[in-house]
Amino acid sequence: MIVALLVSTGAAWEAGALAALNAHPGVVVLKRCVDVEDLLAAASAGRADVAVLAADLSGLDATVVADLHGHGVRVVAVAADPDPATARTGRTGVDAVVGADEVGGLPDVLTGVTTGTSPGVPAEPAGAERPADAPPAGSPGRVVAVWGPAGAPGRTTVAIALAAELARRRLTTVLVDADPHGGAVAQHLGVLDEVSGLLSAARLVAAGTVAERLPEVQRRLSDRLRVVTGLPRPDRWPEVRPGALAAIVAAARSDAQVVLDTGFSLEHDAAADLGGRPQRNGLTVEAVTEADSVVLVGAADPVGLARLARAVTDLRELLDAPDLHLVVNRMRPSLGWREPDVVAMLRGFAPEAEVHFLPDDQVAVDRALVAGRTLLESGESALTRGVAGLVDAMAARRQALNSR
Ligand SMILES: Nc1ncnc2c1ncn2[C@@H]1O[C@H](COP(=O)(O)OP(=O)(O)O)[C@@H](O)[C@H]1O
Ligand SMILES: [Mg+2]
Repeated sequence: MIVALLVSTGAAWEAGALAALNAHPGVVVLKRCVDVEDLLAAASAGRADVAVLAADLSGLDATVVADLHGHGVRVVAVAADPDPATARTGRTGVDAVVGADEVGGLPDVLTGVTTGTSPGVPAEPAGAERPADAPPAGSPGRVVAVWGPAGAPGRTTVAIALAAELARRRLTTVLVDADPHGGAVAQHLGVLDEVSGLLSAARLVAAGTVAERLPEVQRRLSDRLRVVTGLPRPDRWPEVRPGALAAIVAAARSDAQVVLDTGFSLEHDAAADLGGRPQRNGLTVEAVTEADSVVLVGAADPVGLARLARAVTDLRELLDAPDLHLVVNRMRPSLGWREPDVVAMLRGFAPEAEVHFLPDDQVAVDRALVAGRTLLESGESALTRGVAGLVDAMAARRQALNSR
């Protein structure tokens, strides 16, 4: 694994560079630094293998490059015009120069300049600080897993809206993107995902420091809402070892409510068992197993409802008696459905489950998606009111169960 630092000063090539590095399974972008000083500070932590920066970065000289080398950090410069730049950067001692239009090849260049693999992947995420207002430990939060079958029924949309609603109620909330098929929470929320929170957190688990350091890998969206972003690309799921999510959840719930966005399948891969390989769906299974409540999201159409019913059965095969809430998402008049009929049909599969409806609200969803914000941040809507109703119903259910 190559651990990279990127000095980000707003150049046009940076987005492409970041995308190329994030897309490569052998590279982790540890931090985006704002200038040379920031870079040297990050490099002095001794965790990075290589720095990617602009050839004309202000303050970059031979001393800086020597310092970086002293910290074991190779230097790759990106230049608008590599030829004249090579002359200048050559004097500073950088290890490679890449044209601004060649940043797609950065992963290969990084592999070239770093020697072999670094032993033990460092457990050092982006330099986020622990929020000053972090509530005291000792008041464990509840864990809600938002699950749902294939067909994009709206798991991520509901998970984000649920987390935002809990935060609005002044409950500190951590939203964890645990979808083994590739995270989408960061995109939904317009988080330029320089570091995968989930992969960073998984490394903290491996290092045994997740309980203390989880706050460092969370993105802070507001006073009360934090996000652990998901996999930067689907094929990186094996890096989250079995048990890692449970440890992350345990750390997160020590002082916050936890909402988990999950994948679409709980299916057990018997072939993987035989080969001793990890289970891709293990992450989703772990999420629903760790949860106090499961919100099962299905799409309001005939296919969606059939899948929802099937999903109830899958979940029941896995868990004994989960606190289960079925959400029929994108309900709309054009279906011509009566809610009581849908409830009756679903109760046939899950007599104990609560059934909720969320409206199809393209306007609200588009507004939030385009702005890269939560539904709530982009204003009240039928959908935010529906989610508030869901949170009310979940709380009422819990009270009823507790008083029994
Ligand atoms: N209640 C809703 N009204 C309108 N559009 C919705 C609603 N819920 C989800 N969507 C849209 O459906 C698509 C899939 O939603 P998403 O939450 O990403 O699904 P999943 O996580 O299940 O794959 C997205 O484009 C999202 O904006
Ligand atoms: Mg999703």
